Amino acid sequence: MTDAKREHWDEVYRTKAADSVSWYQPTPEPSLRALDELQLPATAALIDVGGGASSLVDRLIERGWSDLSVLDIAEPALEVAKARLRGEAARVEWVVADVTIWRPARHYDVWHDRAVFHFLTEPEQRLGYRNALEAGTAPGSVVIIATFAPDGPERCSGLPVQRYDAAALAAEFSSAFVLEREWREEHTTPAGGRQSFQWCVLRRR
Ligand SMILES: C[S@@+](CC[C@H](N)C(=O)[O-])C[C@H]1O[C@@H](n2cnc3c(N)ncnc32)[C@H](O)[C@@H]1O
Repeated sequence: MTDAKREHWDEVYRTKAADSVSWYQPTPEPSLRALDELQLPATAALIDVGGGASSLVDRLIERGWSDLSVLDIAEPALEVAKARLRGEAARVEWVVADVTIWRPARHYDVWHDRAVFHFLTEPEQRLGYRNALEAGTAPGSVVIIATFAPDGPERCSGLPVQRYDAAALAAEFSSAFVLEREWREEHTTPAGGRQSFQWCVLRRR
């Protein structure tokens, strides 16, 4: 299962320009706004789970964040981000792993996931994700997570997705996390399409 998933995503990042994929954002505005509102110090440890080639880490390095990690199942995605960052790439910890079987060796203050959890359509995959999340966070840690909303697309990158409203998404994590904030976002794809996203900020009890 993991091999097929990895091959799918490796192929995506090997064959498509990072700024042509449907999830591309010139600037990760909703994530940056959420982080601004949380008023975290730049020393906070943040992991971008399934970060792919996102420029979130670029923007956070510019803002002086000093403890940044990016995890993705697809090494070619991380290579795109590293090439873009050049020398600054050394300031980020890069992790190639399937989050559903990954066991973090440390805690993060912020667990950021834009458009990854919604690919986990099987209960055991979501359980694996929750296990990683709980191992990688501590009381007070924050999760910023975005999935397709109920009126969002049924598929992404050719794969089926599970869509969530705020209540359903928060319920996935309610054993350990409390919902602090939620909002919807209309993402415009590079091709000009519109995709409804549901965002949640959750805090670990
Ligand atoms: C739709 S893209 C979103 C990328 C990035 N978060 C962004 O907002 O630009 C989904 C990303 O999740 C990664 N991914 C998918 N399944 C994964 C898994 N099980 N473990 C880790 N990464 C995964 C893919 O390689 C891809 O980079």
